Amino acid sequence: MISLKNVTKRYGGASGVAVEDLSLDINRGETVVLVGPSGCGKTTTMKMINRLIEPTSGSLTVDGVDVLHQDPVKLRRGIGYVIQSIGLLPHRTIEENIGTVPRLIGWDEEHINARIQELVEIFQLDREMLSRYPSELSGGQRQRVGVARALAADPPVMLMDEPFAAVDPIVRERLQDQFLEIQSSLKKTIVFVTHDIDEAIKLADRIAILNVGGVIEQYAPPEEILSEPANDFVKSFVGRERGLKRLALVKVADIEAEEGPVVAPGDPAPRAIAEMEKYGFDWASVVEDGELLGWVDRAMVESAGKVDPADARPFSSYVTAKNSLREALESIVTSRTRVAVVVTEGQRYRGVLTLERISKEIVS
Ligand SMILES: Nc1ncnc2c1ncn2[C@@H]1O[C@H](COP(=O)(O)OP(=O)(O)OP(=O)(O)O)[C@@H](O)[C@H]1O
Ligand SMILES: [Mg+2]
Repeated sequence: MISLKNVTKRYGGASGVAVEDLSLDINRGETVVLVGPSGCGKTTTMKMINRLIEPTSGSLTVDGVDVLHQDPVKLRRGIGYVIQSIGLLPHRTIEENIGTVPRLIGWDEEHINARIQELVEIFQLDREMLSRYPSELSGGQRQRVGVARALAADPPVMLMDEPFAAVDPIVRERLQDQFLEIQSSLKKTIVFVTHDIDEAIKLADRIAILNVGGVIEQYAPPEEILSEPANDFVKSFVGRERGLKRLALVKVADIEAEEGPVVAPGDPAPRAIAEMEKYGFDWASVVEDGELLGWVDRAMVESAGKVDPADARPFSSYVTAKNSLREALESIVTSRTRVAVVVTEGQRYRGVLTLERISKEIVS
């Protein structure tokens, strides 16, 4: 969908080259994340794709069309762009900001309004916010408006330059989740820049790790960047805890849950205790007809003489097939039992995950 071939950018008067001989191919519907140190040429690369910056040499195609010989204004209307530092028009309302490109390409007002309402829903913006000006919004709200504006005319290609950089970690995580959800249905071709390697790992289909001068040190799916970093530069960029980061990419559904101690309401004490001992635990999950009711410990069973469902305590947390192993690990280390209990839809008991089992996934 996007292809850069031997692209070089030399700024007039600048001592070095910002981007030298960069070649990069991006597939249709793919999210490619560019990461690299400040000044390595990420923004320059983005801006060459929509010709806000003219390459000094090289060739560039978008959807098979040579963009260097296309009208740049027309090109830009077909590419959504979230610029670093958001860049909303300060003297236009939020509504006018979002409607900018649809208006430029001649949509009628009804169509534009319908689209704005749609984006308001998607990005959970307050309708009341639409008549305000950018300075009257919080940083996180502005950032959502910036992304909504870039998506307004439904362009097949999106360039997003650190779109979530200015928000706190909680809002950022929510925006990332929203991004993944929206992207799973819209399937845009996206080039995304970030300084945050965890954000890259979470959002990317492929990550390009760039060095000074736009030199690609590695271009691969997150999983591969973590398990087989190409060189020391990539290693240091990815940082420590590569194993832990990899856990964020593996879902509980991807591995087999282990067997754990299970008792049923009414089980006599000796049977329940034998079940606990079989696994070396002093507690067991209480499961009735496949449904997880909670847990009981040895003392409760001994004093009641049986498994009394009224004793069953809820697990403070459990994990589902959709959770990552990293979340399962969190559940393990914060639970009293040092085990993550796995359930599927409707509280169906599936088994447990232990630290030992998860450790096997860290080692690679
Ligand atoms: N208009 C310009 N004139 C001269 N040099 C420029 C210009 N814009 C950028 N540069 C230089 O080109 C190099 C790449 O800049 P670029 O903005 O692409 O970096 P970046 O990777 O986006 O950095 P950051 O992570 O800080 O946003 C830098 O050395 C920068 O100083
Ligand atoms: Mg930049």
